[in-house]
Amino acid sequence: MTKKTSNQMWGGRFAAGPDAIMEAINASIGFDQRMAAQDIAGSRAHAAMLGQTGILTDSDTQAIREGLLTVLSEIEGGSFEFSTALEDIHMNVEARLKDLIGEPAGRLHTGRSRNDQVATDFKLWVRDQMDAAVDGLLALIRALLAQAEAGADWVMPGFTHLQTAQPVTWGHHMMAYVEMFGRDMSRFQDARARMNESPLGAAALAGTSFPIDRHMTAEALGFDRPAANSLDAVSDRDFALEFLAAASICAMHLSRFAEELVIWSSAQFRFVTLSDRFSTGSSIMPQKKNPDAAELIRAKIGRIFGANTALLMVMKGLPLAYSKDMQEDKEQVFDAADNLMLALAAMEGMVKDMSANRDSLEAAAGSGFSTATDLADWLVRALNMPFRDAHHVTGTLVAMAESRGCDLPDLTLADMQSVHAEITDDVFGVLGVHNSVASRTSYGGTAPVQVRAQVKAWQERING
Ligand code: ARG
Repeated sequence: MTKKTSNQMWGGRFAAGPDAIMEAINASIGFDQRMAAQDIAGSRAHAAMLGQTGILTDSDTQAIREGLLTVLSEIEGGSFEFSTALEDIHMNVEARLKDLIGEPAGRLHTGRSRNDQVATDFKLWVRDQMDAAVDGLLALIRALLAQAEAGADWVMPGFTHLQTAQPVTWGHHMMAYVEMFGRDMSRFQDARARMNESPLGAAALAGTSFPIDRHMTAEALGFDRPAANSLDAVSDRDFALEFLAAASICAMHLSRFAEELVIWSSAQFRFVTLSDRFSTGSSIMPQKKNPDAAELIRAKIGRIFGANTALLMVMKGLPLAYSKDMQEDKEQVFDAADNLMLALAAMEGMVKDMSANRDSLEAAAGSGFSTATDLADWLVRALNMPFRDAHHVTGTLVAMAESRGCDLPDLTLADMQSVHAEITDDVFGVLGVHNSVASRTSYGGTAPVQVRAQVKAWQERING
């Protein structure tokens, strides 16, 4: 094996370079190059501060800041050659800066360490993803609101245990997901507010003896303030975990909805038709139109849960402050973020394009004795019957309908009176599914008037 020379950034005390296996396990450039823009923004802010505080001369500061822009344009233009020997994005950028501007490049790392540098870069990257998740959720919520508004009074079966329970409205079902995705949005917003403190200037772990101004760099990078404890600043990955936790809950919601779309688009349900743009065919069965996007959303979610668990495992038991274990934070978060954004966009596309089959929904809404509770409630209201007795009378009528193979509204008044003599013709008024949903006007209930009020409240909330 050829002997390599020691690392130009930290190799002063090393006689030999690393073994190829050491280089392979140690390098993060294969993935952390995704943080190039954040790394350069952090370095430019640090350099400006070193100039402002008189730690660097103006000419060195200027050379560094301009050189960094050149490096950025090389990376963005694809001409930059990343080197594994230079381990990570921080040292790749700095080495190239040295090629470009010479000696002043070596002064950039004054009062800073890769430990606070990587924490800063990663926070900036995750912060952008939190904003992107909020944008993706907003777009999805808009698509759901459009569905809810169009179908505020379309009836469909509501389920518990996936058994027909009571009729609900299409709009109400869509709005249930708006509530879930709305909470997801606020989780990302809360996490963003909590994480927005700058690690830069914490240096390796203990701060620095140079007269740096951490408030200045924090402000330049859009942080609310510098993180208050240097040990914590370099060893905190809560922000990445909070992103993954919020992403996991959001992913769980996406997966539940995806599952419903898979069921609803089947020939047995026919509740929705997914657009051609978000379905695929089968190479052998010509009749097939498969809900692949929904299935992949349902499946991809596991990667996000996995990333959350994996990073918790990396962080648990680590002594303060930085340990190289923490380099394993990035790939998990990158993969989770990529898949979350893709799943959000695919779900938005499916919801925008899908059409609810109003007739199938309505036919299904009335089957399965879905208005049995309305009948029991009527017995309570009209005949002043205790609810438990009304439940029993209704159960007897359901059994009668079931044995005749018909639905509740198909029983005659005589049938009804054979079970309870005081039942009158009025009862038929509550057995229709439209009356059933219209009657559920309690706050948050399924009545179209409630659904329309919720749609309006959400439109004001997201547009206002
Ligand atoms: N590539 C490293 C990471 O991602 C950067 C920090 C390295 N710090 C150190 N002291 N070796 O965590």
